[in-house]
Amino acid sequence: MNQKVTEKKVINLSKRIGDKEGMSIQKYPKKNKNDTKVIAITSGKGGVGKTSIVANLGFALSKLGKKVLILDADFGLGNLDVLLGLAPKYNLSHVISGERRIQEIILNGPGNIKILPASSGIQELTQLTKQQKIQVFTKLDTLIDSVDILLIDTAAGISTDVLDFNATAHEIIVVVSPDPTSLTDAYALMKVLSLKYSEKHCKLLVNQAANDQEGREIYRQLNLVAERFLDISIEYLGCVMFDEKVKKSVKRQKIVIELYPETKASKCFEMIAKRMSSMQALKLPDGDSNFCWKHLVQDKFA
Ligand SMILES: Nc1ncnc2c1ncn2[C@@H]1O[C@H](COP(=O)(O)OP(=O)(O)OP(=O)(O)O)[C@@H](O)[C@H]1O
Ligand SMILES: [Mg+2]
Repeated sequence: MNQKVTEKKVINLSKRIGDKEGMSIQKYPKKNKNDTKVIAITSGKGGVGKTSIVANLGFALSKLGKKVLILDADFGLGNLDVLLGLAPKYNLSHVISGERRIQEIILNGPGNIKILPASSGIQELTQLTKQQKIQVFTKLDTLIDSVDILLIDTAAGISTDVLDFNATAHEIIVVVSPDPTSLTDAYALMKVLSLKYSEKHCKLLVNQAANDQEGREIYRQLNLVAERFLDISIEYLGCVMFDEKVKKSVKRQKIVIELYPETKASKCFEMIAKRMSSMQALKLPDGDSNFCWKHLVQDKFA
């Protein structure tokens, strides 16, 4: 049978189940090289909740005693700063243009998380050149030795920039919502990561789930199709419940765990953060860099 048709059939099984649909980073002591875990949070489909997840997980990890830096890697339409109620004067576009040093654009966020803001509305930054990407990672390398975790909030989709940020991280967390189109898009993303970037592992986080069972069922279905057709293993990281309090917090530009620590979404974020803090990085870079960026220096990914 034609592989495409078969994949489509299997993925179509994934029906919706419920009825709802200037930091002073230098103040941290320097750690050994390669101690920092670089984790990309990504999705095939947009609007599934990546930025909310990155902000809340960052906050929860910081509460657990981790030094957290978040990179807003949605260069064209970054909005992590807005979500956190911050108003950066400078962002990564100023670093890329050479107007500012990377240390100068870091913001202090809630709970002592540090943020590297992206620009918004600069179209040229949605397609960085290979040199610009290497420049960004080289500069990031000078910073991240002093933090425990770098979370990368990527844009949605399968653009080269999104894929490069994912491939450069030690861990990739793919976020899906129960919407079937989010599953097909997640599958497409995993397929490109596997075929083009030889990624062997990723983790799955189901956001806006009705309950734990729905989260596990979505994982089961996606894993089934990935096991059959892709050379990539998926590990279930957990789910975050659909919770109106998340939307309320976004409107107030606050972290949900801060505003509503007892709400169900906050509990989910805290549980996942605990799981992440004990996770071992599956992919470790060789050499001096904290990033797995070998692919960036290979011409085929120019
Ligand atoms: N668990 C949740 N329960 C309810 N609403 C949620 C939840 N998670 C996210 N949302 C809402 O979904 C919307 C999209 O969230 P967010 O901006 O974090 O998504 P995104 O994946 O980063 O989007 P983009 O792809 O555009 O960057 C927001 O309005 C947010 O409040
Ligand atoms: Mg986002």
